[in-house]
Amino acid sequence: MNTALVFGGRTGLLGQALCAALTQAGWRAVPIGRTDVDLWDVDALRALVTQVRPQVVFNAIAYTAVDRAEDEPQEAWRVNALFPRLLGQAVGTAHLVHYSTDYVFDGRATRPYLPTDPVNPQCVYGRTKLEGETELTRLGLARLTIVRTAWLFGPGRMNFVARILELARSRPELTIVHDQVGSPTFTPDLAAASLALVQAGATGIFHAVNAGQASWCELAAEAVHVAGIACPVRPITSAEYPQKAARPAYSVLDTTSLTAATGMTPRSWALALREYIRALR
Ligand SMILES: NC(=O)c1ccc[n+]([C@@H]2O[C@H](COP(=O)([O-])OP(=O)(O)OC[C@H]3O[C@@H](n4cnc5c(N)ncnc54)[C@H](OP(=O)(O)O)[C@@H]3O)[C@@H](O)[C@H]2O)c1
Repeated sequence: MNTALVFGGRTGLLGQALCAALTQAGWRAVPIGRTDVDLWDVDALRALVTQVRPQVVFNAIAYTAVDRAEDEPQEAWRVNALFPRLLGQAVGTAHLVHYSTDYVFDGRATRPYLPTDPVNPQCVYGRTKLEGETELTRLGLARLTIVRTAWLFGPGRMNFVARILELARSRPELTIVHDQVGSPTFTPDLAAASLALVQAGATGIFHAVNAGQASWCELAAEAVHVAGIACPVRPITSAEYPQKAARPAYSVLDTTSLTAATGMTPRSWALALREYIRALR
């Protein structure tokens, strides 16, 4: 039986989806969280890998609080850059799949971003995630896959869509940013794409997101509509909703290299959203 170590698999939004997808596909998925191992001790990580003997190690641990990272850059760096380096030093011959973000881009593109497009993060979160990519690439691992993804929603942990549905049930109206456009992504679909990359033996940097694009306002409005909640969703600008961290105005990701490597074409985010909300009911 194939075995995978899934860092972030106990509590993470993506980590839990990875464990579910792996189990469904007949793998043994071993979830790892804060209390399973000292994440900052490379010898402890090596011992874990030696003990579990995984074919694949997934790293879905990250510091994902985009605004808080502006106040805690050192902690964001530790989780998003130092930990990937330590894990990379510990995986031995296992295939390492690591996750990164659309926020490595500055948002000035006029077409979906390719994995080869120049990066230029605008906030601490994006910079530390990029440093994580760089740390890992520098190690020269035989089998490393970096999967950039975006705007995650799915079961198991609070996320943008779940929060919007909560608010829509308790407020007379929602006002949501309409001048940031990205690629909403359902975590079970991302997990399936990750598994397909592993099965194809694909290494390098890939973009994996659902098809289509949306603003935060469009995603919120669609979620509220699909859930059948009678709450108006009104567009506002980023200037009307100031946030600590700068975010790209446009960060849609191009998935053609994912399709070329795996033969898989992601479905639209709107279809995936329906599945998610139906399951919530
Ligand atoms: N969420 C998004 O919209 C989004 C967008 C683009 C890219 N991504 C990337 O996708 C990947 C998965 O993100 P996600 O949304 O699934 O993240 P998430 O739900 O926030 O989960 C993060 C995981 O990391 C763990 N973690 C964080 N800090 C830790 C620390 N100091 N020590 C130990 N564990 C720690 C968390 O454990 P606890 O539960 O114990 O805190 C949790 O299991 C990440 O690489 C992220 O950068 C996410």
